[in-house]
Amino acid sequence: MTDYRLLAKQIRSLAEDEPNYIPVLSNASALLYENMEDLNWAGFYVMNKGSLMLGPFQGKVACIRIELGKGVCGTAALSDKTQLVKNVHEFPGHIACDSASNSEIVVPIHAGGKVVAVLDIDSPSLGRFDESDKEGLEEFVKALEESADFSELK
Ligand code: SME
Repeated sequence: MTDYRLLAKQIRSLAEDEPNYIPVLSNASALLYENMEDLNWAGFYVMNKGSLMLGPFQGKVACIRIELGKGVCGTAALSDKTQLVKNVHEFPGHIACDSASNSEIVVPIHAGGKVVAVLDIDSPSLGRFDESDKEGLEEFVKALEESADFSELK
């Protein structure tokens, strides 16, 4: 079991020295990838010119731009709702960046009342993520929202 509360505490402390979203999200992707089991990708897409652009991540090379409403990431950003996908092959319009991915969770990140980025985590196992991961990752994202400076993304 991942200790999401500890990870949230760690990212708050890392962001104290330098809150700019680039180092904070870079360290956040490293923290999640190292401390969660059974993942093949963990990272961020950030809002840029009206669509999602690849941000800091750990894992294989990924698609660079995702339109709002497209794939799991674009759906999370447009609907402003966490997407918990037990089987990505059953998600209409899923974008397969890494063919190893079988399940996925995407959490929207806000600043100034708007979605400025999404956290995307992929696993090679079906049904890897459940409600407790959703709650824990939403808590981790809250720590990011409260400690990182996303003002360049507005
Ligand atoms: N699967 C995502 C695309 C991003 S990669 O998984 C890193 C989607 O459908 O939005």
